[in-house]
Amino acid sequence: MEILNWKELLGPYEQAVSELKLKFENTMAEYKNLGLYSPIEAVSGRVKKPASIIAKAKKKNIPDERIEEEIEDIAGIRIICQFVEDIQKVIALIKKRDGKDIKIVEERDYITNTKPSGYRSYHIIVRYPINSVLGYKEILAEIQIRTLAMNFWAVTEHSLKYKYQGNIPDDIKQRLINCAEAAFHLDNEMSTIRNEIAYAQRINEIKDSIIANIIDNIQNLYFVSKLEEMESINKQFVDLWNEDDITKLKAFNEKLSEMAALYR
Ligand code: GTP
Ligand code: MG
Repeated sequence: MEILNWKELLGPYEQAVSELKLKFENTMAEYKNLGLYSPIEAVSGRVKKPASIIAKAKKKNIPDERIEEEIEDIAGIRIICQFVEDIQKVIALIKKRDGKDIKIVEERDYITNTKPSGYRSYHIIVRYPINSVLGYKEILAEIQIRTLAMNFWAVTEHSLKYKYQGNIPDDIKQRLINCAEAAFHLDNEMSTIRNEIAYAQRINEIKDSIIANIIDNIQNLYFVSKLEEMESINKQFVDLWNEDDITKLKAFNEKLSEMAALYR
C-alpha cells in the first residue's frame, strides 16, 4: 500500500478514536458533575501504526482488501477502572448505546476466561459510524475495559514481549503469570476493602440519624417532663453515646419516642 492510501484508510479510524474517547471522557465528567463516583478512571485511545497493521495482516494471512473487516483493533479505545465491579458498570453503559451510536459486534471476556499468558481484560468489538467529508463509513473499533491492576500487568507484559521480540523466556513467562495472579488478588482485596468502607459509612450514617432523632426527642420531652427525669435521660444518653453501640442507641431512641407519644 502506498503512503497516501494509508492516510485515507486511517483517517476515519483517527476520527473514531477521538470521538469515542471524547464520549467516554464526557461520561466521566458527567458523573463528577453530579457528585457521583465515576466507574471510569481514565480513557485512552490510539490508531494502530501501519507497520503493526502490516505485521498482523501478514501473521494472520489477511489480504489487503480484507484488512478493515478482519483487523478489529485498528481503532482502539482503552477504559481504565479503579475496581473490578466498575467494569460491569462500563459494559452496561456501552450496552445501553448498542444500536444507537455504536453496534456491538462481539464481546470477549478475558476476565472470566483469563488468557494462558495471564492477560485479563474485557473486550467489546463495535461498529462505529463515521461521517467525514469523504463520505459515510462504518468502521470496527476495539474497546478494552480493565482495572488499573490489569492495565499495569498488560502494559508491562506488552513491553517485555516487545523487548524479547515475542519470545519471552520461559522463566519470565512464569513470573509474569505469577504477577497476573498477584494483580488478581490486588483487585479482589481492593474491592473487599472498598465494600467494608462503604458498609462502615452506611452504619455511620444510620447512627448519625438516630442521634439526631434522640436529640430531637429529648428537646421535646424538656417541655413536658420533670427536670429530674430529664437529667436521668441526659445521663443515659451521654453514657450510650460513649458506649457507641448502635443497637442500644436505637432502643433508647424508641423508648424516648414512646415517652414523647404518651404526652401528645
Ligand atoms: P492480537 O492478539 O492483537 O493478534 O488480536 P486477536 O485477534 O488475537 O485478538 P485478542 O482478543 O486475542 O487480542 C486483542 C488485543 O488484546 C491485543 O491487540 C492486545 O492489545 C490485547 N491482548 C490480548 N492478549 C494479550 C496478552 O497476552 N498480553 C497483552 N499485553 N495484551 C494482550
Ligand atoms: Mg491475540
